[in-house]
Amino acid sequence: MRHHPFGPTRRDVPVVGQGTWYIDSAQRSAAIAALRRGLDLGMTHIDTAEMYGNGAAEQIVGEAIAGRREEVFLVSKIVPQHASRSGTIAACEKSLARLKTDYLDCYLLHWPGSHPLGETIAGFDHLQRAGKIRAWGVSNFDVDELEEVLSIAGDGAIACNQVLYHLQERAIEHAVLPWCEAHDVAVVGYSPFGHGDFPGPRTTGGRVLQEIAEAHNATPRQVALRFLVRRPALFTIPKASTVEHAAENAGAGDLRLTEAEIARIDAAFPRGPVPSSLPML
Ligand SMILES: NC(=O)c1ccc[n+]([C@@H]2O[C@H](COP(=O)([O-])OP(=O)(O)OC[C@H]3O[C@@H](n4cnc5c(N)ncnc54)[C@H](OP(=O)(O)O)[C@@H]3O)[C@@H](O)[C@H]2O)c1
Repeated sequence: MRHHPFGPTRRDVPVVGQGTWYIDSAQRSAAIAALRRGLDLGMTHIDTAEMYGNGAAEQIVGEAIAGRREEVFLVSKIVPQHASRSGTIAACEKSLARLKTDYLDCYLLHWPGSHPLGETIAGFDHLQRAGKIRAWGVSNFDVDELEEVLSIAGDGAIACNQVLYHLQERAIEHAVLPWCEAHDVAVVGYSPFGHGDFPGPRTTGGRVLQEIAEAHNATPRQVALRFLVRRPALFTIPKASTVEHAAENAGAGDLRLTEAEIARIDAAFPRGPVPSSLPML
């Protein structure tokens, strides 16, 4: 499993991690087995959130990592409605209780909301000083919002921005990814399989993935994941609720693609026009 330094934390984090949205919909024992197989295979970055299943996903993660906490780079998120200074501290305490741990490796604001960012950041600072979180970051932030966080917290404070990123949704490449690269902020791409909408084998793009996969004795999904972590700032967090899916996803962590293969995927899944709401750098 390949690792990259995780933004300013400099922690070595596997490029392929594990998501947990809707993991509580699977059979509990299967979900826990999948997460544990993922850990065995090096996918030690586990992403969860208080929102997922109203805490049920965090409880499943807590069970999956029991006895193995030190192996895990554990990330959870606070919903913006809770993200006042005191609300941030209280929400984190509840997440820690559900996860049966006394610290998070990274705590994220799930998306921008109405509490002033300075309040949320003050809560994060308090939690960090208390040893309850090792780092903090944001999710679903565009460049304007990242600039605001930077103006409050300063350089080296934002560990990551977790954003939508898959082959058919590459909008972050226009401005968010370059901004994060310039400011040493890790970019964690979520929904790498399009949240259940992965290009089928009969589509043009699907055929490209299949051909490249065959050349490496790999699978189209492994090729896709590898493409999504082709730059040092990038990480990906596919969600799997079976051990087979977890094992397949972990296999992407060692795959090497040639520049020509990357270029073919790039052409088959064009990143599209600059979204009108995103300023150009
Ligand atoms: N920050 C945010 O706002 C935000 C938003 C969305 C997601 N996320 C995070 O990102 C994670 C991943 O995104 P996602 O859950 O939306 O979707 P995803 O990872 O793109 O896709 C998950 C789907 O792919 C299937 N799958 C996984 N591995 C597979 C494999 N090897 N072969 C075939 N099917 C496979 C899963 O099936 P099974 O479950 O049956 O294995 C599930 O149906 C989330 O779980 C969450 O942690 C964050």
